[in-house]
Amino acid sequence: MPTIAFISPKGGVGKTTAALLLASQLARGAQVCVIDADPNRPIANWAKDAALPETLSIMADVDEDTILDRIEDAAASAPFVIVDLEGTAAKIVLLAVSQADLVIIPMQGSQLDAEQASRAIRVLKQHERMTGRAVPYGVLLSRTSPIIRTRTMGHIQDGLTEASVPLFDTQLNEREAFRAIFSFRQTLDALDPGDVPNLDKAIANAEQFAVEVIERLRGARTVAAGRDYTAPAREGRTA
Ligand SMILES: Nc1ncnc2c1ncn2[C@@H]1O[C@H](COP(=O)(O)OP(=O)(O)OP(=O)(O)O)[C@@H](O)[C@H]1O
Ligand SMILES: [Mg+2]
Repeated sequence: MPTIAFISPKGGVGKTTAALLLASQLARGAQVCVIDADPNRPIANWAKDAALPETLSIMADVDEDTILDRIEDAAASAPFVIVDLEGTAAKIVLLAVSQADLVIIPMQGSQLDAEQASRAIRVLKQHERMTGRAVPYGVLLSRTSPIIRTRTMGHIQDGLTEASVPLFDTQLNEREAFRAIFSFRQTLDALDPGDVPNLDKAIANAEQFAVEVIERLRGARTVAAGRDYTAPAREGRTA
């Protein structure tokens, strides 16, 4: 049963947001267990007052001593396990990676972020050398503009492609709705379109991300470098 881990040594790049969006999308059709391995418990805190779908469960209070057992327990009870980690390169990340079928590295569009994403990739390479098992992974460009593709972003995408870093085709856009799930303590589907602008576009974006994750888990789509990465769905011009 697939385990998907979100990692990045950089804080605030959108790991928790992407993890929760993916979990909520998958929970529309399957049991999903989210392991909130961040000591700040962002997903567990969200879930405290949230009206959770019955298919979504959360485990928290996980540390490096317990994470392997918790992932094993979760995988025995749910077809999808999603692990959200704090922004760190600590041992717990390596432990989570060791159990993962797919690692997702969210990254914002700046050179500093690209350098931090490289650190996360080094952890994966280290794991591969230690165990002989390469964990499939992909960099997810997050908090990108749905309207413009900046030159910086283009430059970073080119750099990643040249370095043969696998990139998700889907980008998670900067959307008020992706913040609103935390402020309203609801899943995206449960938000009121009257409260949140462009909710339909946010839902479409989250769906597209979940579909791509499933495809990659099935191996139906190769996260290959060197392809023509299309910019996010356009709502306006290209800068
Ligand atoms: N796609 C997005 N659109 C709008 N806001 C976003 C998006 N992704 C993240 N945010 C906001 O950015 C902030 C940081 O996001 P998040 O907590 O998901 O990052 P993180 O990588 O999990 O951080 P940490 O390393 O601290 O755990 C939050 O306020 C969140 O609401
Ligand atoms: Mg987080």
